[in-house]
Amino acid sequence: MNVTIDAVNEFAEYFWKVAGNQKVFAFFGEMGAGKTTLITALCKAKGVTDPIGSPTFSIINQYQYHEGDQAKTIYHIDLYRLKDEEEIIQAGVEDCIYSGAICMVEWPQKAPELFDENTVQVKIEAIDATNRRVNILLPSNTMKEQS
Ligand SMILES: Nc1ncnc2c1ncn2[C@@H]1O[C@H](COP(=O)(O)OP(=O)(O)OP(=O)(O)O)[C@@H](O)[C@H]1O
Ligand SMILES: [Mg+2]
Repeated sequence: MNVTIDAVNEFAEYFWKVAGNQKVFAFFGEMGAGKTTLITALCKAKGVTDPIGSPTFSIINQYQYHEGDQAKTIYHIDLYRLKDEEEIIQAGVEDCIYSGAICMVEWPQKAPELFDENTVQVKIEAIDATNRRVNILLPSNTMKEQS
C-alpha cells in the first residue's frame, strides 16, 4: 500500500484495524525508509502522549497509553547499534518481546532468532521524497497479507 507523509497518521488508524491485537511488530526497511516515522504515528494512534523519538542510542524506549482506565506499555526498540545476540539479550530486548506488551522493533534482522511466527512483519520502502510502500505481513494463523 502506498503511504504519503501527509497520510501517515490516517494509515496508522488503518494499521491498528488490520493488526488488531497483535503484539510484536518487526519493521524492515533501509535507513531513512520511515520506520521511526511510522512507529511514531502508530504510538500516537494508540494515544501515547510521551515524546516519541528514535531509540537509536537508548536501544529501548518505553511509552504509556491507556486502554479504558488501564495503563499499557509500548516498547520501541532499535537494534541497529547492537553487535550480536548476546548484547541484544543483555539489553533486555528479549524480555520486552515476551512481555505481552506491544513491541515495535527496528532492524529486527539483527536478531532474527528472537522473532517467532507470531510476529507481524512490516516492510517499508521509499518510493520518492514523500511516498513509501508499506506491506503488513500478518502471522499466517490470523489473516492474509495486506499490501
Ligand atoms: N510516507 C512517509 N512515511 C514515513 N516517512 C516519510 C514518508 N515520506 C517521507 N518520509 C521521511 O523520511 C524520513 C524517514 O526517517 P525515519 O527516521 O523514520 O527512518 P528510519 O527508517 O527509522 O531510519 P533508521 O533506520 O535510520 O532508523 C523522515 O525524514 C520522514 O519525514
Ligand atoms: Mg529509525
